[in-house]
Amino acid sequence: MNLPVYLYGHPVLREVADDVTPDYPGLKTLIADMFETMYTSEGVGLAAPQIGKSIRLVVIDADPVAESFPDCAGKKMVLINPEIDVLDGDNVNRAEGCLSLPGLSEDVKRVENIRLNWLDENFEEHEEIITGFLARIVQHECDHLEGMVYIDHISTIRKQMIRRKLLNIVEGRVSCDYPVRYAPRKRK
Ligand code: NI
Repeated sequence: MNLPVYLYGHPVLREVADDVTPDYPGLKTLIADMFETMYTSEGVGLAAPQIGKSIRLVVIDADPVAESFPDCAGKKMVLINPEIDVLDGDNVNRAEGCLSLPGLSEDVKRVENIRLNWLDENFEEHEEIITGFLARIVQHECDHLEGMVYIDHISTIRKQMIRRKLLNIVEGRVSCDYPVRYAPRKRK
């Protein structure tokens, strides 16, 4: 089932998400629905808070960007309760977007190399060194689990410059071809 994507401004995107336990109700279906939602909206990653569930669950399929980033070929992952250790590596500046902020793209500085620990959909443990663009996707998605979005990393001045666009997103004035949900700000 395709699910609506919660837009920037919705409070669920600002919560620190809870750990997922194996008895979480309907987990397999939720994971399948998140993949469907991500493919419908042509994203390469989706975190559970973006579909309104404040739990530590992320789906990634980086294969569509493999032409530009060969490391991403075949990288389809389910991350449950992921933990990132930042390893050595330069901070690289590169444009990012997010399904919760349609029509927006901003440069974000992130480290290139991380060590990732996570559980897969069968609750089996994994540890891997992840580099390059996939490491960027993982960091972006794991930010969502901490109640952060990528524009939290951009400068105050830059944020001021895109203020109007952000306000439009908060108030649901977006044009994108996937279903969205927003929480309008209360007017005084
Ligand atoms: Ni995002």
